Parts: sequence; structure tokens; C-alpha cells
Amino acid sequence: MLYIGIDLGTSAVKLLLMDEKGNIKNIVSKEYPLSFPMPGWSEQNPYDWYDGVMAGLKELIADCERKQVRGISFGGQMHGLVMLDKDDNVIRPAILWNDGRTVKECEYLNNVIGKKKLSQYTANIAFAGFTAPKILWVRENEPENFKKIAKIMLPKDYIAYRLTGVFSTEPSDASGMLLFDVKKRDWSDEMLEICGINRKMLPKIYESYEITGKLKPEIAKELGIGEDTIVAAGAGDNAAAAVGTGTVGDGNCNISLGTSGTIFITSDKFLVDENNALHSFAHADGGYHLMGCMLSAASCNKWWMDEILKTREYAKEQEAIEKLGENHVFFLPYLMGERSPHNDPLVRGTFIGMSMDTTREDMTQAVLEGVAFGLKDSLEVARGQGLTIIKSKICGGGAKSPLWRRIMANVLNLELEIIESEEGPALGGAMLAAVACGEYASVQDAAKAIVKVVETVKPEKALVLKYQEKYEEFVRIYPAVKGLFVR
Ligand code: XUL
Repeated sequence: MLYIGIDLGTSAVKLLLMDEKGNIKNIVSKEYPLSFPMPGWSEQNPYDWYDGVMAGLKELIADCERKQVRGISFGGQMHGLVMLDKDDNVIRPAILWNDGRTVKECEYLNNVIGKKKLSQYTANIAFAGFTAPKILWVRENEPENFKKIAKIMLPKDYIAYRLTGVFSTEPSDASGMLLFDVKKRDWSDEMLEICGINRKMLPKIYESYEITGKLKPEIAKELGIGEDTIVAAGAGDNAAAAVGTGTVGDGNCNISLGTSGTIFITSDKFLVDENNALHSFAHADGGYHLMGCMLSAASCNKWWMDEILKTREYAKEQEAIEKLGENHVFFLPYLMGERSPHNDPLVRGTFIGMSMDTTREDMTQAVLEGVAFGLKDSLEVARGQGLTIIKSKICGGGAKSPLWRRIMANVLNLELEIIESEEGPALGGAMLAAVACGEYASVQDAAKAIVKVVETVKPEKALVLKYQEKYEEFVRIYPAVKGLFVR
């Protein structure tokens, strides 16, 4: 039997075809545009996602025994606001997870409604990029669009809706809307009232590994696969990546170095960080997790290479970097503002500490180190909550770089395990489809059978100490510069 995982990312959709044993048969990727219509805004057209998914699906299964395709599921960029009118037309471009326009709305939610109440209702506070503040933004700034809303959904759920006609979501992604009571795994009526919306506008909640429906007959025909191909609810991309790296059950950790950078810590019980600096979300295995999210991670390196150094040779630029833990240059990786732990959509990226002998390599290294220090900020919050974390899986495009992995292991003082496939969210999506079809009894069982660790990067004592000193310098920079970024 064959299972398809669709990872609806920010720069592209990745599709993965897997057999029931977890052997990867094919991977296809389709890019689509991302627009920044104003500084700090970030939007995409849901129709582009759909076109990318359909083109990708056709290519993915072109050479396989199509009758064998039994199930499809998802990992998807989280928090995006997709709004449909009564005829299922997309009302306006989706407002994405890394969009920072909701400064005013977040201030209202956190200070007027109050963090304590938000945390009681949802287990989280407002961050720009979460869905509820965006709904308030549309209500205030585009009242004509707000009036048209018939359905509100998340990016991957829009694709599922187009494929099946079933209006569905699941707890891991719903957790990031600030409309969802994470502990109860249900919508929060208080939050719906605050946002001026109702339950009819929101999807039905399934668990990530549950079947929500079957492909629409016309879609099955277009793809040339069986009408009984099922669709399972899937997960937000971080929860799907955690499934794909075997980060399930209790007390496990995954780091994703993608466009965003996340640290994802699993728990079989509901838990909240007392300062709400980390997100308290549901997991795709039926449990929960804490997560810290940096808005710009591998995207900082991509920006530095593509836009500034004007090169595509990322590995070559890193070859000359040898002296770790001694860099005088620091980089604050806040190109789109920052989510965890600062919750500051207005801050921006900064290089600091250059001198006449600073080289191109020092600055490239500072970018890689800045991202690692930014992730350490979230890891330290988790450690401060009494969680013991000594090892983690690592996935995402940035994790392909051996140098960056070594920097990460030493800055974070974590043993980092590399998985056979770095396609975390797409593999996780396919695994959720396999569980939904009964191939495995649980998400944990699927992870045990499918995920293989192929390499471990260990922290080096002397380097950990050097980086600890550097981190102590790094943490002084943000408080010193944050007032410089005007509204
Ligand atoms: C998580 C988050 C990002 C996106 C990236 O809270 O906003 O990791 O899911 O796709």
C-alpha cells in the first residue's frame, strides 16, 4: 500500500510517497510565490497552494501503481488565516504565520482582555502571527471582508477541504489559532465571542490520525487514483515533523531548522509555561507539547546567501569557517520580528561587533550562530520550567549543513540525532495517513517502526563552554537594541 504526505510549506509544497513499511518511493516539490505587501506583512494565495498540490500529486504518483494509493494526509504551515465566503471563494490572500501586522490587536488581547484570561481560555497568549489577532485585524481594517466570512480555516485544512469537501481540522494546528482550548481539545467560546465569530464558521475537529473523508470523485478521477482513497486530518508542520522524526510520547525533543526555527518538546500530559513564552499546544499523537518558534531560521542564512552575498553555494561559503566559539561578530536573527521568547514583531535583524579585520566568513558564521543562540533562548525557558532536555532530533533544510549541526549541538549543549529522512513534515503526514488506515495501531507504533536515527552529533565539552560565554554576550544585545526599532 502507498501513502502520501503533503507538507504545505511557506516557500513550496513538498509531497512524499511512502509504502506501508515507511520506505520512501518518491519526493516532489513545487514552489509558489510569497508576498510581503508591506514591511512585516506576509501573504500567500491559497489558489497557488492548491495548484501546487495538484501538480505535485500528479508528478508524485506518475510512475507508481496508482491503485495502491490508500491514504493522504498533511503537515502544514501553521496559524495562516484563510477565509472563504458563502460560495467557498477565498475572500483575500491568506495572512501567514510570520506576518507581523497585528501589533495593536495583540496589545488589545494581551493587555485589555489580559494574558491571564487568554491563558485560561486557550493555554496561550497572543503573538502576532496567531490567527485570532488576524481576525480582529480584518474586522477593524477590512470590514467588508469580515462581513463576507462564512468559513475560517488553516492552510492545510483549505487543501483538505478542496480535496474532500469536508470542513475539518485537528488539535495540533488548531492550537495555534488562539481560538482553541488546548487542554479540552475544543473551540473556546470565550475567544469566539472576543473575535466576533461563531462555531459554524470553524471546522469540525478530528484527531490528526483520524480519517476525515474520501477524495471527491472528480479529484480522484483527475489524479487517476481510487475514489476510496482516504484523507486523514494531518497536523501543523511542527507536529507533523515531530511525528516524522519519531518525537512522540513523553519528554522527547525535535528541532526544526526550516524557514522558521522551532524547538518542540513532547509531553503526554497537558502543560503550560508559566510565562507563556513557549506555546502550549496539542500534539498529533493525542498528547501535548511545548514549543518555541523563531520566525527566521534557515531563512536568515538564505537571505544572507541569496540577497547579500549573491551566491547559491551555501556549502562553499561555510567551508572556510573553522574557528568556532571565538567569533566577535553577533547577528540578531530577527528579520521578520521575533516570536519566542521575545514576542516582539517590531524588532529587526542586526549585525554587531564588526571591526576592520572582520571577514565575510565571520559574518556568515555569525548568521548561523545567531540562529542557534535564538533557539537557545527558547530551550533555556524550557529548562527553566524544570524540563531536562539532553538530546534532540533535528530536521529541516538547515540541518543538512554539518557545520550548522555542530554549532547547534554545542550552543544548545544537546546531542543531536539525525534521521534517515530529513523530510520531517511530509513523512509525518504520510505516517498519519498510514495510522488512519490501520497500518499501525498508533502514531507511536508507526514512529517506532519507521523512523531510523543514522547519525548523532555530540556536544564537545570545551566548545560548549566557549559558546556558553558567547551566549552570555548575545543575550545582552536584544535588551540594548529593542528600543531602536520605531513603530
Ligand atoms: C510555528 C510556526 C512556524 C510555521 C512554519 O508556530 O509559526 O513554524 O508553522 O511553517
